[in-house]
Amino acid sequence: MRVVSGIQPTGKPHLGNYLGAIRNYVKLQDDAQAAGGECLIFIADLHALSLPHDPAELHASTLELVATLVACGLDPNKAILFNQAQVPAHPEMQWLLSGTARMGWLNRMTQWKDKAGKNREGQSIALFTYPVLQAADVLLYQATHVPVGEDQKQHLELARDIAQKFNNDFCPEDAPLFTLPEPIIPPEAARIMSLRDGSAKMSKSDPSDMSRINLQDDADAIMKKIKKAKTDPEPLPSEEAGLNARPEALNLVSIYGALTGQSVERVLSENGGQGFGAFKPKLGEALVETLAPISERFRALKEDRETLDAILARGAAKARERGTPTLAAAYEALGLVRG
Ligand code: TRP
Repeated sequence: MRVVSGIQPTGKPHLGNYLGAIRNYVKLQDDAQAAGGECLIFIADLHALSLPHDPAELHASTLELVATLVACGLDPNKAILFNQAQVPAHPEMQWLLSGTARMGWLNRMTQWKDKAGKNREGQSIALFTYPVLQAADVLLYQATHVPVGEDQKQHLELARDIAQKFNNDFCPEDAPLFTLPEPIIPPEAARIMSLRDGSAKMSKSDPSDMSRINLQDDADAIMKKIKKAKTDPEPLPSEEAGLNARPEALNLVSIYGALTGQSVERVLSENGGQGFGAFKPKLGEALVETLAPISERFRALKEDRETLDAILARGAAKARERGTPTLAAAYEALGLVRG
C-alpha cells in the first residue's frame, strides 16, 4: 500500500480541509504503516503556479501549511512530508508524461473548463497541463491509493489513462512500468459546506470569512461564526429524511457528526426536536474542543522556522530517494540516453 496525496498551499486551511482531507491523511499514515506500506503527503506548491500568485504569499502559505499538517497530527516520522519544489523529479516526470497525455483528454477536464471559463486563450499553459503534473505526482511513487476530494476524481482517472497508455506504448506487456492508482474519497469530503450557503462547498476562496471556520480561528471566533451560521427556523428532525431541502441544517448536523464520529442518523436520533438555539452552542463547543489543541500546536510551530525547514528537507530527501527508480525507468523506456 502506497498512499500519495497533495494539498495546495493557497489560502488558509479551514474545517472542510481538515474533516475532508487532513484528518484522513492522519489515519492513512497509520493504515499504510500497518500494511507495511508508506504514506507520502506533499504540498503542491508547483501547482500553485497555474493561477496568478504572489510569491511572498506562496512562500508564507507553504510554511504555514506544513505547520498546519503537523499540528493536525501528521507525523513526519510516520509519513513522508515534503513540498514538490524540493523534488525536481515531479516536473521532470511531468515532461516525460507530456508526450503521452492527449490534448483531448485535458480539454475534457471539468476543473480546467470551470477555472478557465470563457477566457481559455488567456490562461497559463500550467493551468491546462496541471493534471499532467498531478499524474506525475502519483505515478512517480507507484501510488496504489490516492486520497482526494470528489472534485479530483477526474484528475485521478486521467492519471490512470496516462499510466495505461505509457505502459502500452513503451513497456513490454509483462512488465508495465506504472501502477494504476485508486482514488480514496472520504464521505465527509463532499459534505462540509459554507456556513452562509448550504449549497456551496466551504472554500478558501469565498470572500466572506463568516462562511468558514479556519483552523487558526480562536474559540471566540468559532462560537461567533456558528452562532451566525445560516439556518432555518425549524427544530432538528429526528430522522435524516427530515433534512431534505434543508441544506444549512444538514451541514451543521454533518459537521457535528464528523467531529464526534457519529452518523447523521445518530446525531438526529439524539438531538431531534432541539432548536438551533440549543444545538449551535453544542456544535461550537465540539469545534473548539477539536480545534483548540490544533491551533495551539500550530502557533508554536509557525514561529519555528528551523523545525519546519528541517521537516521539509528530510521529507524531500526521502521522496527523492523513493522516486528515483521509477524516474530512471521512465527515461529508459522512452529511449532517452543518460550518462
Ligand atoms: N489538485 C489537487 C487539489 O487541488 C492537489 C494535488 C496535486 C493532488 N497533486 C496531487 C492530490 C496528487 C492528489 C494527488 O486538491
